[in-house]
Amino acid sequence: MNTILITGGAGFIGSHVVRLFVEKYPDYAIYNLDALTYAGNLENLKDVEKASNYTFLKADICDAETIQSLFKKYRFNKVIHLAAESHVDRSITDPLAFLKTNVLGTINLLNAAKSIWKNDFSNKLFYHVSTDEVYGTLGESGLFTETTSYNPNSPYSASKASSDHFVRAYGETYGLPYIISNCSNNYGPNQFPEKLIPLFIHNILQNKSLPVYGNGNYTRDWLYVIDHAIAINIVFHKGKISETYNIGGCNEWKNIDLVKLLCKLMDVKINKAEGSSERLITFVKDRPGHDLRYAIDATKIRHQLGWKPRVTFETGLSNTIDWYLQNKEWLNNVTSGKYQEYYKKQYATN
Ligand code: NAD
Ligand code: TYD
Repeated sequence: MNTILITGGAGFIGSHVVRLFVEKYPDYAIYNLDALTYAGNLENLKDVEKASNYTFLKADICDAETIQSLFKKYRFNKVIHLAAESHVDRSITDPLAFLKTNVLGTINLLNAAKSIWKNDFSNKLFYHVSTDEVYGTLGESGLFTETTSYNPNSPYSASKASSDHFVRAYGETYGLPYIISNCSNNYGPNQFPEKLIPLFIHNILQNKSLPVYGNGNYTRDWLYVIDHAIAINIVFHKGKISETYNIGGCNEWKNIDLVKLLCKLMDVKINKAEGSSERLITFVKDRPGHDLRYAIDATKIRHQLGWKPRVTFETGLSNTIDWYLQNKEWLNNVTSGKYQEYYKKQYATN
């Protein structure tokens, strides 16, 4: 029997992880703790909200007292920690928000786990979900492995790197059983339209320009979100304590090539004349400190835990576009109100 706390379960990746666990493990008690920031949306979990093994807890991981009391009340024995501020551009305008949630919030969870679990660490786990961005940037060649040195370049990646270090430090210092995974860029249904792929789908639907930063020659390694959720499930059940696992799509794309492919698919799916979405591409001022290239060497998780991505980029991207086309209400809801202010501010000077 597991009583699992999943943090950030109303967000993009978290909602797919919650769904997978709720559907796959009827005997586990699954608690989704989320502050419901702009990025958290319970609409993402409509289909599982009534399941008997699922409970939603609205709480902020920055609130140490509440976190302690929830650990006391529910006696979670395992944690999958995804709650975070997750967007690089927002971290450039407000680094402190990232320090608070990603560093302080993580320490609050670690402290609560440590004090409730005391020194009985049998059948306990603190699983911290992190990003490949902690490794900094690659040049034109090479891959990030689990032993690559941390070298974060953005306030977002610096805050995630710091949280990774704290998790590891609690393992070394207090014996807290932990696992960390560092994953490449995710895409798929339910992603907030501030990140590249859903933002550009949204803009094409609105006939708005597609702001490509700099020359567009930046490379990311894209993984379908459900493949990430499956990897998290495998690491959670089969991963070795105190280990780190890199998770990646083995699927590198230069931004400009990805955007052109997306434009082509969108033209077909929404019956626009060939080339009309591509004409919306606008090269804008670059992101400061923009990392040139991320790419993951996923040999360890493949060989040791038997995971590999199942969904091809062609299928994943097509499914993603279809999801946004079928969920225009979701898109309209999340892009009303505060989103408009964010968009104006972020893209004003471009
Ligand atoms: P997201 O921004 O879509 O969701 C974050 C969730 O955390 C939201 O539901 C939000 O309400 C919640 N949250 C934020 N602050 C909180 C707080 N103080 N207390 C409680 N809940 C809070 O993020 P995502 O893209 O789903 O990323 C999830 C995790 O995976 C993050 O830790 C991120 O660093 C990591 N990650 C993301 C990617 C990616 O490509 N999106 C890749 C690798 C790793
Ligand atoms: P993003 O989705 O923000 O993820 P990350 O910064 O975590 O990799 O961005 C993916 C790539 O797309 C990154 O190189 C920045 C670029 N990008 C743009 O060119 N224009 C945009 O409007 C956004 C949001 C991103």
